[in-house]
Amino acid sequence: MKATVLVSGGAGFIGSHVTVELVQAGYDVVIADNMSNCDETNYRGVCSILGKELPFVRMDFCDKEAVRNLFAKYPIDAVIHFAAFKAVGESVTNPLKYYSNNLESFINLLEVAVEKGGCNVLFSSSATVYGEPEKLPVTEESPRMPATSSYGNTKQMCEDILRDSVAAYPGIKGIALRYFNPIGAHPSALIGELPRGVPNNLVPFITQTAAGIRECLSIFGDDYPTPDGTCQRDYIDIVDLAKAHVAAVTRMLKDKMEAGYEIFNVGTGRPVSVMELVKAFEKVNHLKLNYRIAPRRPGDVTAIWADPAKANEKLGWKAERSIEETLESAWAWEKHIRNIK
Ligand code: WQD
Repeated sequence: MKATVLVSGGAGFIGSHVTVELVQAGYDVVIADNMSNCDETNYRGVCSILGKELPFVRMDFCDKEAVRNLFAKYPIDAVIHFAAFKAVGESVTNPLKYYSNNLESFINLLEVAVEKGGCNVLFSSSATVYGEPEKLPVTEESPRMPATSSYGNTKQMCEDILRDSVAAYPGIKGIALRYFNPIGAHPSALIGELPRGVPNNLVPFITQTAAGIRECLSIFGDDYPTPDGTCQRDYIDIVDLAKAHVAAVTRMLKDKMEAGYEIFNVGTGRPVSVMELVKAFEKVNHLKLNYRIAPRRPGDVTAIWADPAKANEKLGWKAERSIEETLESAWAWEKHIRNIK
C-alpha cells in the first residue's frame, strides 16, 4: 500500500515542489494550507503537472481541532511541515505574530501526532540557524548561533521542540532539513515562487527587475571580505531541494534512521556571490539587468555554504541541477506568470 504524506503549507513555493516529487515517487499526498500567503496558482500548477487533482484541505494548523480532524480523515504516515510565516523583517517588528503562529502550529501538529500514537515528522529548518559561521563550509555539527530575527529563532525553537518530542514520546520520529537558499522553479514553469509585494529575496527581485516590474536591483554591499566583495550563499535548486524531502521521508518510513532525530544540511556545497549570480542570470537568459551597488543590508552574513556530505551519504541525495539551469527556470517561471513571450 502507498504511504500517505501530509504536506502542511503544500500550496506554497517549497511545498508545491515537494508535493510533485512525492507523488512522482509513488506517495499519496494530502495538502493542507490556510492560503495566508499564497493563492491557488501553485496548487493548480501541481495538479496540471501530475494530471490529477490532489486532496486539498484549507485549514490553519493553529486550530487544533482542525488538525485532529485531518488526522482522523486521512491515514497519515508522515508529515512535512512547511506551514509558517517567513518574512524575516516582519518577524523583527512583529515577533509575537511569528512566535504564536510558527510555534503553536507545530506544537498542535506534534500533540495530535502523539495522540495518534506517533508519526514521522519532517521539519523545514534553515541555514539561518548557523548565523555568521566561523568555519566554512558548515556541517550539521557547526554551532547554532543566537538568532538575529524572531523568524530565525522560531526555526531553532521548532528544531528543539522536535528533538525533545522524539526523546519523550514513543512513536515520534523526526528529521530537520536545514535549507540553504532555495531558488528556481519547476522545469514545466507551472509552479514557482510568488512573493507578495516587494520581494526580499535576491532571485525574485532579479526576475521582477528583468520583467520590468522593479526598476533596478540593489546589490547590498560590495565591500565584504569575499573574492568579489559581494556576499556568498549556497543557492540550491528548488527541485533538487524537493528531492531531498522525498529521500528523507523514505528514510523515515523505511526505518533507516540511525537516531530518532536527525538533521541534514540541504545545499550544494558551492558558494556563489551575488555578483556571480547576477552575471550568470544575464548570460543564461541573454539579457541585461539594471543593477547598482547599494549599502549593506543590516543582518546579512558575509558568507555561508553547506557541507552536504551527510545528506549525500545518508540520504543518497545530491544537488544535480546547475546554477544556469536553475536561473533559466526562474526566468521561465517569471515569464509564465507575467505573460511575457
Ligand atoms: C541573498 C543575498 C543579500 C536581495 C534569507 C533568510 C533565510 C531564508 C532565505 C527564508 C544576500 C543579497 C538580496 C536584493 C541583494 N529564509 N541581496 N539584493 O538573506 O541569504 O536568506 O532568505 O524563508 O532565513 O534570511 O537570502 O535572497 O534575501 O539574499 O543584494 O535585493 O542577496 O544581501 O547577500 P538570505 P536573500
